[in-house]
Amino acid sequence: ALPRDLEGRRVVVSAGGTREPLDPVRYLGNRSSGKQGYALARTAVQRGATVTLVSAATVALPEVAGAELVRAGTAEELRSAMHEAAKGADILVMAAAVADFRPTERAEYKIKKTDHDPRPIALTRNPDILAELVEARAEGQVIVGFAAETGDDSGDVLEHARAKLKRKGCDLLVVNAVGEGKAFETEDNAGWLLSADGSERAVELGSKSYMASDIWDAVVAFIEA
Ligand code: PMT
Repeated sequence: ALPRDLEGRRVVVSAGGTREPLDPVRYLGNRSSGKQGYALARTAVQRGATVTLVSAATVALPEVAGAELVRAGTAEELRSAMHEAAKGADILVMAAAVADFRPTERAEYKIKKTDHDPRPIALTRNPDILAELVEARAEGQVIVGFAAETGDDSGDVLEHARAKLKRKGCDLLVVNAVGEGKAFETEDNAGWLLSADGSERAVELGSKSYMASDIWDAVVAFIEA
């Protein structure tokens, strides 16, 4: 049986990938399946937490029994949903893959094929939701960020990740090595957990539920330290 060590804690987890519309039928998106975020929400419920799952686009996944589900399509929607859910929450986990940019214009009608070359797509930067949550953090609220890093050299990946942890100001950073067949869309995940107190450890390749348990262990250790 899992420990009930999140009993009485209010947890918010974001999951999936945002979709940034170009017109009514097309969007810019990413390969996040939502599996890691849903596993985090499910494990938190099992460990006794009150859970809000803020879900962007995912593959078909079983619902997380016992969690409140809030749907968010775009980064802007995810942003409002996270700020709303963050009020009164003890722990925030940003597992969603948020688009860094959105099309500057969203066409009202389907963009038509024309005889001339298409216009390039102009992009506008999206807000950094994690940075905003850190900025607005309530006293004692624990914030967990993710970092999807490409690269085969773990030294490089960790170097980038340590810098990201500092820059983003969160308490824990879950580092995924991503790339062909890694992290996004897969059943398994592996990586490192970096804590703002300087501790670091590797998470061996295992199911996303296994990774989720490791992340909650690290969160509980951080709270109790
Ligand atoms: O969904 P799965 O298929 O199971 O895959 C899981 C995953 C690989 C998507 C997940 O484990 C993961 O790594 N999620 C974060 C991916 C990501 O967007 O990383 P990033 O390095 O671009 O962003 C760093 C952090 O900032 C993340 O916590 C992200 O949620 C947050 N962010 C990013 C951009 C933005 N505009 N706002 C944000 O809050």
